[in-house]
Amino acid sequence: MKTIDLRSDTVTLPTDEMIEAIVTAHRQNRFGDDVIGEDKVVNELQEKAARILGKEAALMVTSGTQGNVISLLSQTSRGDEVVVEEKSHTYLFEAGSMSSLGGLFPKPVKGVRGYIRPETLEAAINTDDAHLARTAMVVIENTHNYAGGTIIRPKQVKALTSVARDHGLKVHCDGARLFNASVALNLPAKKLIEDVDTVQICLSKGLSAPVGSIIAGTEEFIHEAHRMRKKLGGGMRQAGIIAAPMIVALEKMVDRLKDDHDNAKLLYQNLSTIPDLIIEEPDTNIIFLGLDKLNIDAMKLSKELAKENILIYGGYGDRSRFVLNRMVNRDDVARVSDAVHRILSRL
Ligand SMILES: Cc1ncc(COP(=O)(O)O)c(C=O)c1O
Repeated sequence: MKTIDLRSDTVTLPTDEMIEAIVTAHRQNRFGDDVIGEDKVVNELQEKAARILGKEAALMVTSGTQGNVISLLSQTSRGDEVVVEEKSHTYLFEAGSMSSLGGLFPKPVKGVRGYIRPETLEAAINTDDAHLARTAMVVIENTHNYAGGTIIRPKQVKALTSVARDHGLKVHCDGARLFNASVALNLPAKKLIEDVDTVQICLSKGLSAPVGSIIAGTEEFIHEAHRMRKKLGGGMRQAGIIAAPMIVALEKMVDRLKDDHDNAKLLYQNLSTIPDLIIEEPDTNIIFLGLDKLNIDAMKLSKELAKENILIYGGYGDRSRFVLNRMVNRDDVARVSDAVHRILSRL
């Protein structure tokens, strides 16, 4: 029986075209030492990404976490405060990197569906008082993972960045799933980030590249980020081997994210008929099930599903997370829906 893996969109395997792109670049002698800027594939990827994201320059990094921490550390000083949404990835799931590596002080604030309202940001910014840390930055997450793959719309980004600008704050967008928002809204990705200083996008999630993220911003930022990446051990040699699949991801894999969104909607429709289940219609490819009212432990549901070769992350707080991805088709969604119905009615 096929294992259906809904733990994350990071489980997506590279496509044949991605592997062929590595071989082709090798045959064309395009690999080189990227630490000294000589890998032609990496250079092509970075130029392409900067253009797509509407920023002056871009830099390839190993992961979303590395891209976020480089972006934060390159634009702040030790002791600065960074406003983050209280359930954001940068705050909860990046091993405290902004504090441990950068001496930054996160200030978590409550968002609405992952969005930090402008008035919430305004209230969180410290006045210029020697007793207080200098509030230097705010981080937006789009789409927002923990809120359920929710989209932050360009108008909302503009309203938030306007407050940030008034107070001299930098704005970073953790756009690990920015293209999911872009496809769902049918807007170019750059429209979602035109007001932010810096962005990080992951190519190793729904877009299926095996490794890698991109950060983008001004030339000056990328110059600084390049040094920071080196400090963090992220300088790589013949890195075109991972850049080649990333180019395929950017060029060929964005439009297909719609399939994941359609499958998430189908799963939602199938499960929303279960009485007392807490479920929201998804904006993109992530669905959370709240089991409180059913008095069922989320870990229990994931263990029962695992017995039927269906993998999810239980224990996301008290919720279960389902992430639709390229390895899961409509028939799989039907199998998952049936299993959840059966299991919840018997637990
Ligand atoms: C919203 C968000 N940001 C950042 C990351 C970090 O990416 P990586 O796992 O490549 O470090 C993730 C990973 O799941 C994520 O969901």
